[in-house]
Amino acid sequence: MRVLVTGGAGYIGSHTARRLKASGFQPVIFDNLSVGHAFALVGMDSIVADLADRDALSAALRRVDAVMHFAAFSGVSESVRDPRKYFHNNVQTGLSLLHAVLDAGIRYFILSSTCAVYGPPSRVPIPIDTPRLPINPYGATKLALEHALEAYSAAHGLQYASLRYFNAAGADESGAIGELHRPETHLIPNALLTASGQRSELQIFGSDYPTPDGTCIRDYIHVNDLADAHILALRYLHNGGESAAFNLGTGTGYSVLEVVQAVEAVTGRPLPRRVCPRRAGDPPALIADPSHANKLLQWKPSRNLRDMVSNAWQWMQSPTYLKAQT
Ligand code: UFG
Repeated sequence: MRVLVTGGAGYIGSHTARRLKASGFQPVIFDNLSVGHAFALVGMDSIVADLADRDALSAALRRVDAVMHFAAFSGVSESVRDPRKYFHNNVQTGLSLLHAVLDAGIRYFILSSTCAVYGPPSRVPIPIDTPRLPINPYGATKLALEHALEAYSAAHGLQYASLRYFNAAGADESGAIGELHRPETHLIPNALLTASGQRSELQIFGSDYPTPDGTCIRDYIHVNDLADAHILALRYLHNGGESAAFNLGTGTGYSVLEVVQAVEAVTGRPLPRRVCPRRAGDPPALIADPSHANKLLQWKPSRNLRDMVSNAWQWMQSPTYLKAQT
């Protein structure tokens, strides 16, 4: 099956595109390289264009049977500062893509969604049927596309899966691709940048949360486990599975201090750190209840926190990362 991978030069998109290829699918990456990286296109069938380029998009859609849509901005704080950028790119451009997909008669659509659609959870682990009440524009933009998919599926028969990621982490075991954001805000890469001496200390945002050690708890999920879930979701839809949303996390949470310990264990270096005030908008604990994905997709993450940290560490020492970082 041929699959258009929008945002396929980005972090999660690039890992999924490679695993699609390795699993016998024919991925076609569509990316404007505004956030994605040229290194992720090496050896891949790709189109460098903007989703707003209607001609390029229609030509690309004629070549495929399914779409996986990763192209979006994903910074929670940035979305609060510049919501227009988020509604324009994630909603307006996302809807144009969706309409072009319907017009092209494509039947399968997989959306990169997020646990941010839930807002502060009333229950942890978070079940899939938890009401979606996002508290930041990023979550609201993803929820808007989820709503559109639900309506278009009911009205037009589009088959979709909305995949709600928890905290994506790690890198491909090959060391060829991995995470590289500008600026980097995520915990694991920030901790590794500190371990490598590129940052003087890791800031720990808050130690007075109602958690066992006072720091926030998150459900970290290896990027290749996420990639596998996309392939399983596509197979599920192709086999006649009903359109649905899925939580993608391991179901186990780790605190910021537990991540710091994992980073020290993997790198063998003590991590200079400083406790700072809480970061606005951080809920104390976000943990997935992934049972829906376990059951319907037969998805079971196989990599643990140590794997995520060590693959990310290996990636951040690779020639590709070091060259792209400069
Ligand atoms: N943290 C630090 N120091 C840092 C970076 C992060 O202490 O330098 C803490 C944060 O406060 C948080 C935890 O580490 O408690 C994880 O933070 P990340 O920035 O790595 O990830 P988030 O949980 O903020 O973000 C993730 C996804 C988003 C998604 C969001 C939903 O990356 O896409 O969860 O809340 F929207």
